[in-house]
Parts: sequence; C-alpha cells; structure tokens
Amino acid sequence: MSMVSNTVRVVIDGRIVEAQGLRRTTTLLDFLREHQHRTGTKEGCAEGDCGACVVLVGELDADGKGVDYIPVNSCLQLLPSVDGKSIKTVESLRRPDGTLHPVQQAMVGCHGTQCGFCTPGIVMSLAGLMQTQPCPSRKQVNDALQGNLCRCTGYRPIVDAALQAADTAQADPAALKIDDSADLDALREIRRDAAPTYSLDGELLVQPVVRTRKGHLFLSPSSVAEVAQALAEHPEATLLAGSTEIGLKVNKQFWRPEVIVYLGGVAELRTVRTSPAAWHIGAAVPLERVMHLVAAELPDFAEVLRRFGSPPIRSTATLAGNIANGSPIGDSMPCLMAMGATLTLRQGTKTRRVPMDQFYTGLKQHVLRPGEFIEAIELPRPQPGEVFRAHKVSKRFDQDISASCCAIRYRLDGGVLRDVRLAYNGVTPYPARAPKLEHALEGRQPRQVTAAALDAAVADSFPARDGLRATWAYRALVARNLVLRFIGNEEEAVQ
Ligand SMILES: Cc1cc2nc3c(=O)[nH]c(=O)nc-3n(C[C@H](O)[C@H](O)[C@H](O)COP(=O)(O)OP(=O)(O)OC[C@H]3O[C@@H](n4cnc5c(N)ncnc54)[C@H](O)[C@@H]3O)c2cc1C
Ligand code: FES
Ligand code: FES
Repeated sequence: MSMVSNTVRVVIDGRIVEAQGLRRTTTLLDFLREHQHRTGTKEGCAEGDCGACVVLVGELDADGKGVDYIPVNSCLQLLPSVDGKSIKTVESLRRPDGTLHPVQQAMVGCHGTQCGFCTPGIVMSLAGLMQTQPCPSRKQVNDALQGNLCRCTGYRPIVDAALQAADTAQADPAALKIDDSADLDALREIRRDAAPTYSLDGELLVQPVVRTRKGHLFLSPSSVAEVAQALAEHPEATLLAGSTEIGLKVNKQFWRPEVIVYLGGVAELRTVRTSPAAWHIGAAVPLERVMHLVAAELPDFAEVLRRFGSPPIRSTATLAGNIANGSPIGDSMPCLMAMGATLTLRQGTKTRRVPMDQFYTGLKQHVLRPGEFIEAIELPRPQPGEVFRAHKVSKRFDQDISASCCAIRYRLDGGVLRDVRLAYNGVTPYPARAPKLEHALEGRQPRQVTAAALDAAVADSFPARDGLRATWAYRALVARNLVLRFIGNEEEAVQ
C-alpha cells in the first residue's frame, strides 16, 4: 500500500532523491533533465521511437540482494511510476576515478559517434544489454539497438563498438557491471510497503502516491483487491501499465486524466503461472517476458514480439495494455485469437472470462464495463499435433507497426486441415478472426486450397479499404499468401 506522501522517491547513484510538488504526468525524462540536470539523456521524438532518452530503471531482485535493470524510454514513463526504483543515466557509468564504461570507451575507439545526440541512449541500451549478456552476439547487439536511431554515424561502428567492448571486458567482466553497491540500502529504505491499509471499519484504503492541489490522483495499489477498490471508487480512472500508449497521449495530446491507477506495483499482476494446458499471464507482465515465455513452444509468436517496438518498449509495454488499447493493427491479438486465449476480467470481487475473439465490439471498442479491468490472459499452450504460425508484415523490419499481422493454428488429421483458427490485424476495424477463410481451409488438404478460393473468402470477409500503411490490393495479397505459406502450399502463393 502506498503512503500519502505527495513525494516520489527514487535512488540516483546511491542517493535517495525526493521529488515533491511535481505534476503527476511529469515524465521521467523531464525530471532527469530539468530537475536533476542530468542533461546527458536527450529528448528526440518524445514518442518512444528514437531512443535518445533511454535510461535504465532498476528494482531490487527477488532475494533483495541485487538490482535488476530494464531499459526504458524515459520520455514515456510518468515519474510516479518509478517511485521506489533506481535510475541509471549515462552520467552514472563513469567510475569515480574517471574511467569510462567499456561501451563508452569502445564508442570513442570505433568512432561510433558524430553529432552525439543519439549516443547516450545507445550507450545505455548497450550497457543495459551487457548486464545480463556480457558476451552478446552481433544479433543480440542489433536487437538491443532496435529502438535507437542514429542519423549520422551509421550502425556499423556502433555495433563494432559493442562487440569490442564485450571483447575487451573478457579479461575483467566486472568492468561491464553497473556499480550499484551504494544503491542497495537506499532501495531497501524506500521500498514500497506491500501490506494493505484498512480503515477502522475494515475497509481497504487506497492511498495516493500523489494528490495534486486540484485533487487529481496517482494511485499505485499493491494488490488486485486494491485495484478493484480504486476502480470502484473511481470508475472513470485511467489504468496505467507500461505507459507506451498513455505516455504518447500525455506528451502529444497534453492528456491529464484526473485519476491514474498504476498497475506496475501489483505483484499478483506481474506473475505468470504455468500449467500443462496454459500460461496464465498477469496484466502487468511486460512483453519482453512474454516473448521469452513462449519462445520454445510458439516461436512465431516470439518472433512477432521480437519485432514489437524495441527492447525499451517491450520491457515496459504489457500484453493487457496492447489488448485494452485495441488498435486495429495491434500485433499480439491475432496470435492470442488464433491460440484461443481467454481474458479474465475483474470488477470488484466479481470476475468473468471472455474469449479473446469476443472482446472487441468495434473500432477501439470492447466489452469492458466501467470499473472493470483485465486481470489476466490465459494463453493455451500448443498441444501435440497442433501447428501455430504467425508473421507480421511491415514496411521496416524492426520498430515498425504492421501493415498486417496474421496468425493461424490448425491440426493435420490424416493430411487434412482441422480445427483451423485464423486471425488478422490490419484488415478490419479491430483485430479479428476470419471465419470465411477458416471455412475455406477446414477439412481440406493443404494442396487442395487454391489462391482463388482464398481470394474470394478475403474479398467476402473484409472491407476493401486503402490505408496509410498499405493499399487494399497489397493487404489482400498478404492475407492470402500468408495463409498459403502457413499451410505449406507455397506454389499457390506465388504472384
Ligand atoms: C515506439 C512504439 C512502438 C510500438 N510498437 C508496437 C508494435 O510493434 N506493435 C503493437 O501492437 N503496438 C506497438 N506499440 C503500441 C504499444 O506499445 C502497445 O499497445 C502496448 O502493448 C501497450 O501496453 P502498455 O502496457 O504500455 O499500455 P498503457 O500505455 O499503460 O495503456 C494502454 C491502454 O490500455 C489500458 N490498460 C492498460 N492495462 C489495462 C488493464 N489491465 N485492463 C484494462 N485496461 C488496461 C490503459 O488504460 C490505456 O487505455 C508501440 C508503441 C510505441 C510508443
Ligand atoms: S525521446 Fe525519442 S524515444 Fe524518447
Ligand atoms: S551521432 Fe548524430 S544521430 Fe547518431
């Protein structure tokens, strides 16, 4: 339970820093630059695309003896959501004796910087990678830089610098580690109390982290019951998870919701339970973790997630946020629909289960009632004999949004397609299954499925609309060809 303090407390390089009287929607970036004068961290786009603002956010690990870091786009994170955490900026990397971090040194040596605007973000992304991967491959380095744009240097010297830093640190791997020995006690001191507070009548009290003079609130519950209570009291409240959508609204539309309920402090919502049949994924579990969770059993879904934004986006953004936001080109939903995922929705003490393919009712419309929220996603694990395929088509391979993403699940029963579930984004006002295409596949051998039959089903299923991301002709072709590829009938797919 949060205390009424109006104070956000973070640890910056061993010091507890208190932020008082700031707007609840102050971004971490503005706090660092304007209030901490840590101007190494830059603002490029203020929408999560360029990576100039990347910093590391640390939390005490499970046994409280170390710090786990994630890279974040500080331009998108609201300051109260990092209450109780540690922040590392590019200024944190230099040792007291003036020695640069191996990544910084290698950036100098490999000429990895020109104007330098992107450099602090790049250095933080690479230093973050090396906290868990001291010896990364070229591919891991490329992935770590998915969300860092450099306009002048070109990426070869930057990637070379990353590999050289890892190489030179072989002799002294500790040199790559961020020194957080002074942070541990401070983090323990400001750790948020997870025990709930009750009124004298035994009612759960949800206290704000920040209450403004106008009475606007930032609540950070620590249990599901508290979230439900907060929403019962403020059914119009805005839920905040990874902030990769909300941060944009705050920065670009100057959005100032009256009540914000942050889900990232709720341990139950950050939990994954695995049973033989399904993964039960809490609403605050970030996509990066989902990606690793499904990698062995649903590699195509993991690949869709690997191409979802960038590491700082995936380290914060949640599956539930993607679903609730309901963008017509949201990437996780076709995969969840094809696999037959079910959502657990909670309102007060009541829960109901809604199949993912029945969640949307229109463009950005869904079945959530006032005060109701997504508590968890149940994602069935693939069973023996089931095939799952998915692919995202976008103009750029990394850090781009879909023209269309398609996912399918089926069984081959004596060479015949059975139990077909097929879903798309980008072809309808909301991600949806495609029953007419499913019908065109069901009960047929893959070689019996013709491009003409699928074209007819596509034309019959979706409104023929050109969009900003692609023309209708292109999307229709993609919709058909992906299916043919997924069922292994490549010859028909040629166009
Ligand atoms: C640079 C960038 C790249 C991106 N790339 C992609 C991409 O490749 N593919 C893609 O699909 N999207 C992409 N997105 C969009 C965004 O990252 C996703 O939609 C993300 O999953 C949102 O999750 P979040 O936790 O950040 O949501 P938030 O921003 O915290 O919230 C989003 C919405 O969901 C609501 N919400 C959150 N949690 C719950 C809950 N438990 N119950 C009910 N409502 C809830 C919030 O109130 C809000 O309306 C990108 C965004 C950015 C900025
Ligand atoms: S300023 Fe561009 S990602 Fe944050
Ligand atoms: S060095 Fe200028 S943008 Fe990268």
